[in-house]
Amino acid sequence: MNPMIVDHPLIQHKISLLRDKQTGTKEFRDLVSEIATLLCYEATRDLPTEEVEIETPITMARTKVLAGRKLALVPILRAGMGMLDGMLSLIPAAKVGFIGLYRDETTLQPVEYFCKLPSDIADRDVLVLDPMLATGGSAIDAITMVKKRGAKRIKFIGLLAAPEGLKALQEAHPDVSIYVAALDEHLNENGYIVPGLGDAGDRIYGTK
Ligand code: PRP
Ligand code: URA
Repeated sequence: MNPMIVDHPLIQHKISLLRDKQTGTKEFRDLVSEIATLLCYEATRDLPTEEVEIETPITMARTKVLAGRKLALVPILRAGMGMLDGMLSLIPAAKVGFIGLYRDETTLQPVEYFCKLPSDIADRDVLVLDPMLATGGSAIDAITMVKKRGAKRIKFIGLLAAPEGLKALQEAHPDVSIYVAALDEHLNENGYIVPGLGDAGDRIYGTK
C-alpha cells in the first residue's frame, strides 16, 4: 500500500519547528500534539458516514454523521504518547491501548516491556501512533502484537519516516496504511533519522 505523506503547509511549517534543535520541550510537545491532530484529520478521511434526518432552525434536512465505526488508538511508549491527546481531540470516543517498546541502542532491535490493549480490539479500526519510523522495527513489532489480538484494520501514523523504515514496514505489513508528515533522507550509523529531529522521546519529555 502506498504511504500517504501528509505535506500540508501547516504540517510542513510545524515539522520545521520540530526539527530545530533550539525548540524547547514545551513547544516541542505542543507541536507534536498539533501535528497529530492534523494527521488524524487525514487518516480518518475514509471513515464511513450514514444519513440522518435533523431539523435545522430553518427546515428538515438529510445530513451525514459518522456511521459508528469503533476506533482504537495505540501509542508506542514513550514517544507515541505525545501524539495521543492531539488525536483524541478529534476522536474522543476512541479507546486507547498501550505498547511499551524501546530500541536496544546497540542492536537497534525493539524490546517489548508493556502491552495493554482494549479487550475488543479485534472489532476496532486501530491507529498505531509513533512519531518516528526509523528502522521500522518498533512499528513492525507493535503492529504484529495488535494483529495477534485479532485486529484487522490497522493504520500507522507517524511524523518522520526514513526510507529504510518505510520499506521494512510495507514489506512486513503490506495491508497497513501508513500516514507520515515527512519522508526523510536516510538513517545514520546510529539508526537515527537524517535530517530528523533527534530523539523524539527525549525531546517530548525533556530527558537526557
Ligand atoms: C523511538 C521512537 C520509536 C523507535 C523508532 O523510541 O519513538 O518507537 O525509536 O525506531 P525504529 O523504527 O528503529 O524501531 P525509543 O526506542 O527511543 O524509545 P522511547 O520512545 O521510549 O524514547
Ligand atoms: N528514534 C528517535 O527518536 N529518533 C530517530 O531519529 C530514530 C529513532
